[in-house]
Amino acid sequence: PLPLPFPDGFDLTDPDLCQRGIPLPEFAVLRRTAPVWWNAQPHGVAGFDDDGYWAVTRHADVKEVSTRPEVFSAHRNTSIIRFNPHISREQIDAQRLIMLNMDPPEHTRVRAIVQRGFTPRAIRSLRAALRARAETIVAAARDRGSGDFVTDIACELPLQAIAELIGIPQRDRARVFDWSNKMVAYDDPELAVTQEAGANAAAELIGYAMALAGGRKQCPAQDIVTRLVAAEDAGNLGEDEFGFFVLLLAVAGNETTRNAITHGMHAFLTHPAQWDLYCRERPATTAEEIVRWATPVTSFQRTATRETVLGGARIAAGQRVGLFYASANRDPEVFASPDTFDITRDPNPHLGFGGGGPHFCLGRSLATLEIDLIFSAIADTMPGIRLEGSPRRLRSAWLNGVKGMRVRYG
Ligand code: HEM
Repeated sequence: PLPLPFPDGFDLTDPDLCQRGIPLPEFAVLRRTAPVWWNAQPHGVAGFDDDGYWAVTRHADVKEVSTRPEVFSAHRNTSIIRFNPHISREQIDAQRLIMLNMDPPEHTRVRAIVQRGFTPRAIRSLRAALRARAETIVAAARDRGSGDFVTDIACELPLQAIAELIGIPQRDRARVFDWSNKMVAYDDPELAVTQEAGANAAAELIGYAMALAGGRKQCPAQDIVTRLVAAEDAGNLGEDEFGFFVLLLAVAGNETTRNAITHGMHAFLTHPAQWDLYCRERPATTAEEIVRWATPVTSFQRTATRETVLGGARIAAGQRVGLFYASANRDPEVFASPDTFDITRDPNPHLGFGGGGPHFCLGRSLATLEIDLIFSAIADTMPGIRLEGSPRRLRSAWLNGVKGMRVRYG
């Protein structure tokens, strides 16, 4: 192994490390000197006996792993979980019911069905409703004068977008939002959501979604639930499959977009010339640059199905491979001035939505629509918005999260 200037026990998936900020200087060293690097985790991973994983930090290698599912499988949980005494082997196995952790051909079948809900037409049809939501959210925040940007603005639209998409009745939304919030917060002790509360919320959300699906099977309607579970012409999701799909949406669509919006606002407020440019010209390239800059999902994981060579490293069958999107998105081989926030960047082949393989983010157009709508509403009505203090970062090994950010709504 190459001598690297990292202390003993250095671990790229340590939530405390990421809580201090994404380790960009370390990623730069790795890309240059050891782009596929064995990061030992001497304490192992609950339920497994391995003692480390390969950290993949270059853009080209992250893409290669993402697009070769037959060699790099998603079946063994896609987030790189560090030792956690609360997570059992059984819980990890249960996650196989989520499409993010499936391989072809099973994944291909489920993806083809759920894609019916995410066609360009389906997303376009949400535009007017989501614009109205974005304007209401921003107007309510402005009336408060100042507050926490995360709870006032960033949390709300992603929750509403998924609820609109699935057609969750208005009367159930508060419950569904509460479960979603509990599920994503468990790793951070400050948020006071226990592991158990998180697991209970997940079970309740699955139960709720299964009941919704069961109802549509009996009584089909003109909505996406019906199209996924009760369409007569093509394959369908079972009620349990639908339950796990909604669970995935609640995690994949909420915390991600929320953090893209918060980091985007922070980037604008710390790069005022970019905010002025945005307010004047609203470049269509803005949302993609925000996702590159923020990289809300900093990493995902695959497992090698057989021995293979990547970036000069020999990877054995069964070893885990960490895909560091946060590093790939700053790779100078691909991006000119990668550490510059530039909302006119074009082309922008960032990997914030994944490396382009079968699991490529299903919600990309919805997420970029939400980002466009919220920043348009902010620029229209409170261009003078400013920071009041530093953001407080979420404790997580793979979410680049912000749990609070005080602002004055200008
Ligand atoms: C998958 C990021 C928003 C639904 C993914 C993946 C990433 C990602 C990195 C994995 C890609 C891979 O393994 O190759 C993001 C980011 C978002 C965002 C950064 C916001 C800025 C959304 C939204 C939804 C969504 C709004 C839905 C409402 C999904 C689903 C998958 C996924 C269902 C799994 C796809 C599969 O396994 O085939 N996303 N996502 N995402 N995302 Fe997103």
